[in-house]
Formats: sequence, structure tokens, C-alpha cells
Amino acid sequence: MRNKISIIGAGFVGSTTAHWLAAKELGDIVLLDIVEGIPQGKALDLYESSPIEGFDARVIGTNDYADTADSDVVVITSGAPRKPGMSREDLIKVNADITRQCVAQVVKHSPNTIIVMVNNPLDAMTYTAYKVSGFPKNRVFGQAGVLDSARYRTFIAMETGVSVEDIQAMLMGGHGDEMVPLPRFSTIGGIPVTEFIAPDRLAEIVTRARKGGGEIVNLLKTGSAYYAPAAATAQMVEAVLRDKKRVIPCAAYLEGEYGLNDIYFGVPVVVGAGGVERIIELPLNDEERALVQKSSNAVRQTLETLKSL
Ligand code: LAC
Repeated sequence: MRNKISIIGAGFVGSTTAHWLAAKELGDIVLLDIVEGIPQGKALDLYESSPIEGFDARVIGTNDYADTADSDVVVITSGAPRKPGMSREDLIKVNADITRQCVAQVVKHSPNTIIVMVNNPLDAMTYTAYKVSGFPKNRVFGQAGVLDSARYRTFIAMETGVSVEDIQAMLMGGHGDEMVPLPRFSTIGGIPVTEFIAPDRLAEIVTRARKGGGEIVNLLKTGSAYYAPAAATAQMVEAVLRDKKRVIPCAAYLEGEYGLNDIYFGVPVVVGAGGVERIIELPLNDEERALVQKSSNAVRQTLETLKSL
């Protein structure tokens, strides 16, 4: 039997995620949005590309959560994107309300699903989804680290002129400008990245990676990135549905790991059929630990704002 994947929100991230998932033939796809016609139109259009591209995936669009029933994975992308000058945190009020409503509906129709959160501010919205769902922590996690490390890997590839395929880069922290790329845990073909790039230049690349989302917002002016966020999301869904045991950074619920409690935060995890199956604790040095602390303070502050709403 085919897997069923529902995507909540048929905006650029949602519909592009549907595209990547269909192309990978990961299952049948339900694209849901509150706007009438948009999910139906985008889903049908995508479905009609299948004879050309040769993928067997049924793609339907809907405004009714009943159509998402018994999904194996649900991706939540709904919410407002950033405009130039906005931080991800500026989205909190409107997206928290949307997240609460979406998650309640998702849980009602798919009580055994795995939820992948994509809307911003990412760590706080994933925390909200966890609380509202009542699911075990392994079944709710957030996309951010895969996207952020993809940006970091792209910039390393641009700098060195080598294949993106051979660049592995770990990154931790909240999905904000305080995120923590980790050059010490980043390699090119197994060789430390520091052998290829001088420290000053690497520091500039780290800064660009941290502000990578804002760079796209400033260029687009009307919204935020979607190709790379959607590709990152599809990779996480694939890890679950194919039980791949991928080692990737995701926003996971922490209970003491890295000295943090009751918070969703980007950490290296093992993703398989159970969702987040394991959290990996890296041996951080003092400098890295301080950066992680700073990033977690930023996420904590957003969580406090969320609680005061
Ligand atoms: C980004 C937004 C989507 O990083 O958070 O592009």
C-alpha cells in the first residue's frame, strides 16, 4: 500500500514540497489550504505532470481535513512568510493561532501520524504543535537544520569549487540568526573543511549561512525562500517513510540534552520510521557551547512571548 502524506498550506513551500515528494514517489499526497481552489488547482496541475515525469503518486487538493485522514506523515507549512525587515519572530502571533488550529485538526483525523513542522518561528511553532498534539516527542519535529546546513554546504561548495555531494556540514541551534554552524564537524570528502578554507573566510561563510533566510527575503521582497526549505522538508519525510536512519539536524524536543529542558531546538538526530529516534550529543568545546547557549536563549525568549500571548 502507498504511503499517504498530507501537506497543510498550499503556498510556495507547501506546493514545492508536494513537487519534491511526488518526484521521489514517496506516496500519495493531499495538499490542503483554507483558500478555495488553490490547493485543488496546484494538486491537479502537479498530478498532470506525472505522465511526463513518470511518477505514480495521486495528488489531490482540498479544503477539508477529512481528506487528510490516516496520513503517515503530515507537513505543516501554513502561516505567513516574512517580508523584508521582519524577523522570523515577528510572525509569532498570527502563526501561533494558525498552528494551533491546524494541529488540532490534523490530530483529530490522523492520530498516529508524524508531524513535520515548517512554519516560523520554527522552534516555537514546533513546540506549539507538540503541546497541542499531545503526541510523544519523537512524532513531532521541525525542519530547519537541514535547510540551514544546505545553505552552509552550498556556500562551502561555491568557495571551494567542489561537489556539493561531498560536503557534509553539521549545524545546531534555533532557526534564527543565532544558529550555530559547526566548522569543527564539517568535512569535504571526510577532510575537515578547515583544511580548505582559511579561518577568516570560513567565518564569513558561517555568517552568510546564519543570515541565509534573510538574504532570500531581501532579494524576493514579497516572501521567503521555498525551493531549499521544501527540499529539506522532503528529505525529512523520506527519512521517515523509507526508515533511513538519516543523521541530520532537526528541531527536536530536549529533556536535558545539551543542558536544555522543555524546548524545541536544532540538534543532530537520527530520523527513521519512528520520527526522531535518537538525539546525538556532540562533544562541544567551550566556544561552541557558549554559542549554543546564546541561540537557546533566543528560542527561549520567543517561547516566553508565545506563552504571554
Ligand atoms: C528561511 C525561512 C523560510 O530560512 O525560515 O528561508
